[in-house]
Amino acid sequence: MPEQIQPFYTVHSDHCSLVLDCRSSGSNHDRHGPAILYWGPRLGAETTPEMLALMATRQEAQACMPEEAPIALSPELGAGFQGNAGIQFHRDGRQWASYSKIDSVTEDQNGALKIVSICLASEIKVTHRLALDKHSDVLTTTTELTNIGSQCLWVDQCNAPTIPVPMHYNKILGFAGRWGNEFQRQPVDRFMGTYLRENRSGRSSHDAFPGVILHTEQTNEGAGAAYGLHLGWSGNHQIRVEEQFVGRAYAQMGELFFPGELSLEPNQSYCSPTLYGVSSENGLSALSQSFHRYIRAKFRNSSRAEKPRPVHFNTWEAMYFDLSLERLCSLADKAAAVGAERFVLDDGWFKNRRSDSAGLGDWFVDKSIFPQGLSPLIDYVQAKGMEFGLWVEPEMVNPDSDLYRAHPDWILSAETGLGEVPLLLARNQLVLDLTRPEVQEYLFKCIDGLLSQNAISYLKWDMNRAVSQPGGTSQPGGTSQPSGAGGRAVPHYQTLALYQLLARIRDAHPTVEIESCASGGGRADLGILSHTDRIWTSDTNDALDRLRIQNGFSLFFPAEIMGAHVGPKDCHITGRSINMAMRAGVALFGHMGIEANLLTMEESEKAELTAGVALHKQHRQLIHRGDLVRLESAANENSFGMISGDREQGLFSYALLDSHANSAPGRLRFCGLNPEAQYKINIVWPLKPSSISKSILDVIDGAVISGDALANSGVQLPIMLPQSLLIFYLQKH
Ligand code: DGJ
Repeated sequence: MPEQIQPFYTVHSDHCSLVLDCRSSGSNHDRHGPAILYWGPRLGAETTPEMLALMATRQEAQACMPEEAPIALSPELGAGFQGNAGIQFHRDGRQWASYSKIDSVTEDQNGALKIVSICLASEIKVTHRLALDKHSDVLTTTTELTNIGSQCLWVDQCNAPTIPVPMHYNKILGFAGRWGNEFQRQPVDRFMGTYLRENRSGRSSHDAFPGVILHTEQTNEGAGAAYGLHLGWSGNHQIRVEEQFVGRAYAQMGELFFPGELSLEPNQSYCSPTLYGVSSENGLSALSQSFHRYIRAKFRNSSRAEKPRPVHFNTWEAMYFDLSLERLCSLADKAAAVGAERFVLDDGWFKNRRSDSAGLGDWFVDKSIFPQGLSPLIDYVQAKGMEFGLWVEPEMVNPDSDLYRAHPDWILSAETGLGEVPLLLARNQLVLDLTRPEVQEYLFKCIDGLLSQNAISYLKWDMNRAVSQPGGTSQPGGTSQPSGAGGRAVPHYQTLALYQLLARIRDAHPTVEIESCASGGGRADLGILSHTDRIWTSDTNDALDRLRIQNGFSLFFPAEIMGAHVGPKDCHITGRSINMAMRAGVALFGHMGIEANLLTMEESEKAELTAGVALHKQHRQLIHRGDLVRLESAANENSFGMISGDREQGLFSYALLDSHANSAPGRLRFCGLNPEAQYKINIVWPLKPSSISKSILDVIDGAVISGDALANSGVQLPIMLPQSLLIFYLQKH
């Protein structure tokens, strides 16, 4: 009841507070939708919401609305909001102007808030949920829209709750990229108007990762204020940051719908994807640490949580489609010898899959390569002490496949019923319509069969094309339309259907780990990570490109889910030749793997690789559990550290991508250690560090230095060659 609703609700985590404004607004004193009044560092007991509200008093500006519509969790058109309304809908062109009033606010025992608002005029109910995770400080929040009318509601937008952005957060750090070069930082100065990133690829995309960071002029890796926002969704999305001319700014993220994609029948609801947010006062390091802490606590399946992540060997760049049992076994010998713990058979193992032009959809072992099925290879791999993993791409079908020949109507298309819109092939494949129950059933049976009949511990789940014509043949909710009738756009339902299929497979095979891959890092988000364990970060194994890719990826995701492989000396994608010390030194800071032809690799390289794998295993616990310390680096450098939670040890990496700008480089500051402790410093990689003349390398190894000197004074770097790196290990003395 309105009289029980308090004007403000404050939720706290260990280091943050969020104050929700639920006061009356407007001259008629109706309760208008809730708004975030404050989100930032934890407020002291002496600070009251009333103080914050008083300080936020605004005035009427010339030629502006006398009373501004609030930046509510879902700003509304009926309230006169002149930015992008958080919810947008209509019933045959009517009832579009909602003005929801708070109906109830409930707080659970953990402090999570549920706010229900209702608009009787447009017959909708909006439910917002907000929670601050105590230990990681991560904000999770959703918007749910319910049709409480008696006619269908057409929904154009229903974004996750809107985040007001402090005006002094005038920098936007967005993300751009492409295949083989994902998670590229794209800094933009905020401007009056709208920064908008839209993704219609049916996956989280290579070019528009669903994340954005808003920060101040002074913010850097180790200091300053920032908001980090991420939408946990693996389909189409929009990211919006608007500075309104009236002198306010907000950020909004949500699904991007095709025309007519979402409609709600009476009593039906739609819930936005979860927006995950971090408010940091200590730069991008603290921001990523919060995300990592949250993911580690909430996204780990207990049956897999404690097991160290095994080092992979993946067959793709070693063999591509040219598979033979004999060569696979020889590779397994070599993989085990260099220290791999899981052997992953990539693309090419199933019926008629001799190239990327045929076979997708026919998930049966190719008898011409494996006359006795996969068992002989799996037995061989296991006898070498490794687990076995298998590549699949279940959402796709090649027209040249038995599946397509039998069910040409099982695909998504822009089919109008008149056959006028050509099907767009990409990598010679089409996208199956997962919203059809019979497609789900077929795929589940195939994968369940593979996992039940073979000792497979891991699936690499790939998706090698964008969804460009997302018309389905099912009605939302699962009822089939007559085939060929042309369907409504279904990206939303396709994404949910994928989650459903993955969940069913995980339920049936709880110990099998799944990797999310979409031609590299095209599907990296917390929606897919709820159903998977690892993300294939990028198809490029070029160590220099990887440093930039991993830098962007690690802003949100922790090292243990970041697939990072040592590729061949001459990178297959960039053609760049990079030595093993560099390749291994870069890959060992993720979930390490090897993806190169070990049958042709020189013995000296293999020996170095073996040492790199051993170094990774030695420090795996630290890398996969520690706190990432982001360090300021010039454009031709990359440096960071991993520090254990108890500050007893740290591993720091300094890489030089291109020639030094000066004759000699500067110092590396080891931030984040305990300033009062003493640390023994050792250079642990490369195996034989050297420089052009006598240098710090000759005197520093084994020295004991205080934490404050390491952080504040820093260690002089030696003169290094471009494309080389140093890894330092620091242990409390
Ligand atoms: C794209 C992936 O990203 C690669 O690693 C490899 O699995 C190929 N697909 C196989 O087709």
